[in-house]
Amino acid sequence: MADQKHERALIIDFGSQVTQLIARRLRESGVYCEIHPFNKVDDAFLKTYDPQAVILSGGPASVTWEDSPRAPAEVFELGVPVLGICYGQQVMMEQLGGRVESGTSREFGRAYIDRVIDDPILYGLSFEGQGEQVWMSHGDHVAEMAEGFEVVAKSPGAPFAVIADRERHFYGTQFHPEVVHTLSGKQMLRNFTHDIAGLKGDWTMAAYREEAIEKIRAQVGSGRVICGLSGGVDSSVAAVLIHEAIGSQLTCVYVDHGLMRMNESEQVVSLFREHYNIPLVHVDASDLFLGELAGVSDPERKRKIIGKLFIDVFEAEAKKIGGADFLAQGTLYPDVIESVSAIGGPSVTIKSHHNVGGLPERMNMQLVEPLRDLFKDEVRALGRELGLPEAFIGRHPFPGPGLAIRIPGEITREKADTLRKADAIYLEELRNANLYDEIWQAFAVLLPVNTVGVMGDERTYENVLALRAVTSTDGMTADYFPFEHDFLGRVATRIINEVKGVNRVVYDITSKPPGTIEWE
Ligand code: XMP
Repeated sequence: MADQKHERALIIDFGSQVTQLIARRLRESGVYCEIHPFNKVDDAFLKTYDPQAVILSGGPASVTWEDSPRAPAEVFELGVPVLGICYGQQVMMEQLGGRVESGTSREFGRAYIDRVIDDPILYGLSFEGQGEQVWMSHGDHVAEMAEGFEVVAKSPGAPFAVIADRERHFYGTQFHPEVVHTLSGKQMLRNFTHDIAGLKGDWTMAAYREEAIEKIRAQVGSGRVICGLSGGVDSSVAAVLIHEAIGSQLTCVYVDHGLMRMNESEQVVSLFREHYNIPLVHVDASDLFLGELAGVSDPERKRKIIGKLFIDVFEAEAKKIGGADFLAQGTLYPDVIESVSAIGGPSVTIKSHHNVGGLPERMNMQLVEPLRDLFKDEVRALGRELGLPEAFIGRHPFPGPGLAIRIPGEITREKADTLRKADAIYLEELRNANLYDEIWQAFAVLLPVNTVGVMGDERTYENVLALRAVTSTDGMTADYFPFEHDFLGRVATRIINEVKGVNRVVYDITSKPPGTIEWE
């Protein structure tokens, strides 16, 4: 639940793929907001949450279907501005007395809108040339507006592209302002929250830091907290924040499973012990992990073994320090949002992600999750606020099972060493070429395939190594990075020359979907 000191907007989710982007755009403008599924928002919730602006998201259903989702009627009685996006616009029309029709064809992609009347929602937009570019993605459309509404902007294919009841401050857009292809979309959302709803944008990281510290102190009291560090940004930021709140009541444990990247352990240990003077228990459990993983090829079994061992090791370490009352985790907002599924039921498990789930019950601990309200970019901003070095904050995400899922087939220490060396060269070249920060994640994968090569006059028969680099905003979807061939050639040459055991390098050009980012 939102902290009541803040201004806050509410986003009601109808299951659109891009609902999270609405929240991101609002927060970028300094507006705190939360996403809640349409079927969980009732009168009592609205009274406690008390939003100053409401946004109805898009969604995959059709308001013309029987039993399709509706907005809680109370939303229109709150006396606060409401913006309906795509399905949200249609649902608003349907519920307020307008009419929606099913289209014979879906409209998907770029369109250009033109101003019909002057309205604050259009502040800062330029309609020069063919008009403002917006992004449409819908099947149905509004056929008749509800009473009190008028057209604010239209496009050749969408006579109701932007509509408004300017008395009640209800707005509807047929397109999606939250996606980057709607070039002034962020500005329109800001116009809605700042100019129409009158919010100032009081959500800053400095304020968040102070409040989070107060909350941690209130939750933990004089209890002991244990925090598992992975070397990633999230757990590091959580640990530094909690340490600032409760000092020596926090113990950090870093479990090295032997499948970390080159120099990773040294970096984590030095950041915590030297930079922050935060005590850290460093456990070298590589023999245990690599021993249990020996001979295992199946990706899900690898993940399960690592997850279980991690809990065992962590639990043993916790006992050594006399136990803990709380477990700290770097859980982020995207993991917390309960997104609604258009078809109902849980989605299929593509991979069982490894985290320390299971531990809190087993050890009778409560969770401390100070990043639960934040998106990844906000965690980075908080990390800067807390003085974490830039090189640490900008690090690419790294999966809990580490290099295990980048070595398809059986894992050995020798293979892990080979992969570590190749990966380090790749990352070094990325930094040298100033490409590291443009990429969401880049890594090497050691394939269980040997190929024939010739080095000098010798025949070689060694492993293939694949390079992966993707751009993404949240890891949910991703595109491969379009490197210059020169760069790829340079990396391949260095790896083959410097890493024994690799004689061929390939580049993975699969996007997600249909691929995933990791290979296993
Ligand atoms: P995939 O491979 O599912 O990965 O496209 C999406 C993002 O999640 C990371 N990943 C993990 N992170 N534990 C983690 O903490 C895991 O088990 C795990 N598996 C994948 C992956 O690196 C990418 O950033």
